[in-house]
Amino acid sequence: MSKTSNLNRVDGRAKVTGTATYSAEYKTPGVTYACLVGSTIAKGRIKSIDTKKAEWAPGVLAVITHLNVQKPAGYLKDKNPTNLGQPLQILKDDTVKFYDQPIAIVVADTFERMRYAAGLIKAEYIKEAHETDLNKVLPKAKMPGGDRSKDYVRGVENAYKNGEINIEAEYVMPADVHNPMELANIIAKWENDKPVLYTKSQGVEGTRRSIGDVFGVNPEDVTVHSEYLGGAFGMGLHTWPYEVAALIASKKIAKPVKLVLHREQMFTNVGFRPMTLQKMGLSATKEGKLTGLTHEATAQTSTYEDFTEATVNMSRFMYDCANVNTKYRIAPTDFGTPVWMRGPGEATGSFALECAMDEMAHKLSMDPIEFRKRNHAETDQEQNKPWSSKHLLECYEAGMERIGWKNRKNTPGSVKEGDWLVGYGMGTGTFGSSRSKTAVRAKLLIDGTMVLQCSVNDMGPGTATMMTAIGADVTGMPADKIIIDMGSSGLPKGPTQGGSATTSSVGSAVYDSCTVLTGKILDLATKDPLFKKLKIEDLQFADGVVSSRKKSSVNTTAAALLSKNNMQELVAEVESKGSDEAKKYSFYSFSVHFVKVLVNPNLGKIKLAHIVSCADVGTIVNEKTAAGQMTGGAVGGIGMALMEDLAIDHRYGRAINNNFADYHVPVNADIPNQEVFFVNKKDPYSNPMGSKGLGETSLVGMAPAIANAVFNATGKRIRELPITLDKIL
Ligand code: MOS
Repeated sequence: MSKTSNLNRVDGRAKVTGTATYSAEYKTPGVTYACLVGSTIAKGRIKSIDTKKAEWAPGVLAVITHLNVQKPAGYLKDKNPTNLGQPLQILKDDTVKFYDQPIAIVVADTFERMRYAAGLIKAEYIKEAHETDLNKVLPKAKMPGGDRSKDYVRGVENAYKNGEINIEAEYVMPADVHNPMELANIIAKWENDKPVLYTKSQGVEGTRRSIGDVFGVNPEDVTVHSEYLGGAFGMGLHTWPYEVAALIASKKIAKPVKLVLHREQMFTNVGFRPMTLQKMGLSATKEGKLTGLTHEATAQTSTYEDFTEATVNMSRFMYDCANVNTKYRIAPTDFGTPVWMRGPGEATGSFALECAMDEMAHKLSMDPIEFRKRNHAETDQEQNKPWSSKHLLECYEAGMERIGWKNRKNTPGSVKEGDWLVGYGMGTGTFGSSRSKTAVRAKLLIDGTMVLQCSVNDMGPGTATMMTAIGADVTGMPADKIIIDMGSSGLPKGPTQGGSATTSSVGSAVYDSCTVLTGKILDLATKDPLFKKLKIEDLQFADGVVSSRKKSSVNTTAAALLSKNNMQELVAEVESKGSDEAKKYSFYSFSVHFVKVLVNPNLGKIKLAHIVSCADVGTIVNEKTAAGQMTGGAVGGIGMALMEDLAIDHRYGRAINNNFADYHVPVNADIPNQEVFFVNKKDPYSNPMGSKGLGETSLVGMAPAIANAVFNATGKRIRELPITLDKIL
């Protein structure tokens, strides 16, 4: 274990003491206040919109609708709007595509006057029949474009139908909403005809590109600051209409504009995990060898974007099986567009696959872990490649031990604690572990500090802490002498924070740039009279001090070296990417969630007694932030399993539980004794640290673990999330 593997969050104090600055908090002289006014129908056209009262209200600076908007240059391009990164082109015309679609922007000199004026706007509509129920639009389902979404067949299609023992089942995943604590928020302004944004984004460079595209400006001329995020869970992966709206308004009034969505708009305007219907077919021999696996999914999208995720893909490689086929379809509803949400695709897909595996184990009268072990995939049969590393079996063992799996009985309802039925369940998770091109600049300054710069941002996983730890490990600099400069454009280009790839991508670039920087420091030292006749390999750098390896009393601080050479700083900037060697391997992280539930059969109440989340995610770079990721992801999975459900009143096409009183997410009292176990074995091919992705596999597999535990407790197989008490009774 290295000394940095247990660092506290380097930005923790700033966050908990309120000194961390979130987008809407930047002190901006002359800032004005804007909001979006939403449609009150789900589909149709705006017949008229009366803005006069709002325009005449005190303090109002602008009321912008489709009738008076100066359309951004990008709207006029004949181009697939998806490429704009914000598929809905706000205020483009009079059409309404979903309930609460922005139909007007109101700007005033104070927040209160803005809200008052917004309430004065009245629109009349020409309604058209809408459909927000996925079940009703299934005839419109289509195969989306893109290789990942194509039908997949290995061996015989639908082989499960003729298997020795088979099961067939359908699973329903409702729409879930990200709902980070921090609302979507932005301050937008124009400086010399160039956009400047302080906004909630998971990718500074991605936001530059999409804003550049919308407004017809060079992305390099777009300035984006997104230095702190109060959670995002995927909603910050798109550039959304509210961001474009703030820029449209700012341009019109030539003043900075602040726009913060209200909580209700977080349910309608910034994406969600789409509702998805899934069918599973499995067959096996009596001995428990899988002989057929079919996974079909149809997911909700919007009428203005083909949103896709890899819902069925996990079924192609998770288990050893000769005959596998998958189908993925999307169908448009008259609702806002979905977006990736933590564990996108796999979170939904694992619910079907891992419940079906449990159902099959039950039918075989076999322990569900034993069944999985008999079908353990030694290689990736989809890509026909070896795994870069896979320690899933260790996760099973560790979890069984910690949860007390030996107390589980295969016959449901046979374990009791007082009035409560006891159930044990598990679910396996996985997520791709990729690495993308990233640049990091490492600078040693004359004051003895080291600065690491990258435009990547940190929505909460602890990216700054990870960068500090790796920087300290590589250079030997004390962690408290390392300063992280991140989350703004103009810094060396980092990736979007998404797809569990940040540590692999940014960490590698920190590693590489710090390696080069250390070399430069030692090289400079060889030219110093103090180290005369010593070669670079005779020198070492640690704690900010260069010394002779043979005689450590011969030493000098790096800061002194810079000073002697009249240098203010020593800089190394490296762009890092994965090797060609790595292309020979299949990179996945693996997780297994174990749960013990208590179910009261008379009340239908479910209590989580104990959860254990085990993961094979390569080297753990920081134990605290990794454990935080794992427990946080598991809690997301608990919400998905037991609470979260975006309810739509289909008569109006309207989200009705659009607040935290009615849309439930887990709180502290819902979370039991929670344990985390990491295999912590280095992946030989992933990156210099040997780490794999962690942010998403931490959620994937939790919902089926809970569903399987509820079955083990009660004998009730609940195939529709969330598992609420009415479904138990
Ligand atoms: Mo993640 S859904 O890629 O933020």
